[in-house]
Amino acid sequence: MDAKAKIDFSDIILKLENINKSFPGVKALQNMQIELARGEMHAVCGENGAGKSTMMKVITGVHKADSGNIYLNGEKVTIREPNDAYGKGIAIIFQETSLFKDLTVLENMFMGHEPIVKLGGFIHNIDYAAMRKKADEIFDFLGITGQIDYDAKIDNLGVASKQMVEIAKALTYDAKVLIFDEPTAALTNKEVRALFRTIARLKDQGMSMLYISHRMEEIFEIADRVTIIRDGSYVNTAKIEEVTEQQLIAWMVGREMNEMYPKAQVEIGSMILKVEDLCRSGEKDGFPLDHVSFEVRRGEIFGIAGLAGAGRTEMAECLCGLRKYDSGHITLEGKDLAPKNYREAINDGFIYVSEDRKKYGLVVAMSIEENLTMSILYRLTKNKLIDFDAEDRLSDEYMKDLRVKAPSREFIVENLSGGNQQKVLVAKALCAKPKILILDEPTRGVDVGAKSEIHRIVSSLAQTGLTIIMISSDMPELLGMCDRLMVLKAGKKTGVLERDEFSQEKVLKLAL
Ligand SMILES: Nc1ncnc2c1ncn2[C@@H]1O[C@H](COP(=O)(O)OP(=O)(O)OP(=O)(O)O)[C@@H](O)[C@H]1O
Ligand SMILES: [Mg+2]
Repeated sequence: MDAKAKIDFSDIILKLENINKSFPGVKALQNMQIELARGEMHAVCGENGAGKSTMMKVITGVHKADSGNIYLNGEKVTIREPNDAYGKGIAIIFQETSLFKDLTVLENMFMGHEPIVKLGGFIHNIDYAAMRKKADEIFDFLGITGQIDYDAKIDNLGVASKQMVEIAKALTYDAKVLIFDEPTAALTNKEVRALFRTIARLKDQGMSMLYISHRMEEIFEIADRVTIIRDGSYVNTAKIEEVTEQQLIAWMVGREMNEMYPKAQVEIGSMILKVEDLCRSGEKDGFPLDHVSFEVRRGEIFGIAGLAGAGRTEMAECLCGLRKYDSGHITLEGKDLAPKNYREAINDGFIYVSEDRKKYGLVVAMSIEENLTMSILYRLTKNKLIDFDAEDRLSDEYMKDLRVKAPSREFIVENLSGGNQQKVLVAKALCAKPKILILDEPTRGVDVGAKSEIHRIVSSLAQTGLTIIMISSDMPELLGMCDRLMVLKAGKKTGVLERDEFSQEKVLKLAL
């Protein structure tokens, strides 16, 4: 069935008009507008910090707009808090879920509006049978019957399942408008396919959806229309079949784009890092590694590819003392290492940019500048005094290079948009000037412009002799940036490809 043909773009379910929203020092939304048609999948695109998440938070009552109007089914509405939005049938699926991790799937779905059975008089009880029946209907509607245990604790579910529970929860409120804020950022390819099947089903049943993503190919695959915003302002809305990727990017960035994957050709030096027969069982935590050996050379960008569960992150974490390994040898510049913790690994010359920026990496309650320089203050110290001018200069330089969108270097990291937090994390690692820089999904959630900036910087660092290990699920990124690529599959090395033999097919063949 061709769902796209059915949509009547003049039948508006949700409309925003002249929405303004400021935070101290930041005008996040300026006369913002958007129209969502009934049954439409409408993508929202814009650079990091453009105001996408803020717009969705205004729609769902997380933030109150300073001025402007919201219409639902042609009627002006006021949405004061998230419960108002739920009551009106608007739900948001956050990337970092808002579910209670110690409660079960069923409890989370019906929290606060459990079906009640009267037992006579004033006595009543939660109607578990009704809850299960309703849950069955919803899971059936979503096409995921039997895929998630109703009685499982949320904490025991993976990201993708948690997301499904969020969607199911939205449906218990009879949602008519669903909002997705970068839903695929933390999913594997397989999970993305499953989510898209569910989204297609929702669409067939007439759901209206807003969808934020930095991944162009996704937008072209699932959206009917796309609205582009820049610096808090509306730029344009277009039918997806009437625009090209080039045009979308031009609207988003409003300037000339740098070349993607600006890999410089460099002389690769002698061996700097050697890993021999690294093994870990993976019984207690994480995935196993099975006799993995490889060598990395100075100035090289060495990629690690593989599917989820292949052991890529575990490999990086073993190198950095963040995970234990059972046997094997790590040698850096001829010296035997056995990093017991991250601190030791940093002293040895490693820096790890984690895919989980909140867990290791950023202190979100501190300023951009404090985050950038916290690990290198000793280098900025002269005669026991911190050279604050140098610190400021350095922060400004990195903020400018990576186009971190913030009013000043004193801005608190927590209030940055997601993508800008990622840029600060990468900048912090770059400031530390390590011997071996390990980047784990460095451009996840980062917009196209900043992505090419990060790539440019990584490439120029390699030119100065820094060694980089890059883990990514973004195949074009790996193929574009790396000198060599090791492929892991279920903890085993299945091959190492040289740059001149790179191809997507070869990598997939080794990974599958
Ligand atoms: N609570 C807050 N306090 C201060 N400023 C904020 C707050 N929340 C957001 N901002 C600012 O508002 C602007 C828009 O942020 P928003 O999170 O909406 O961007 P975004 O388009 O979702 O970006 P990304 O693609 O990086 O997620 C940014 O400059 C951000 O720093
Ligand atoms: Mg956002």
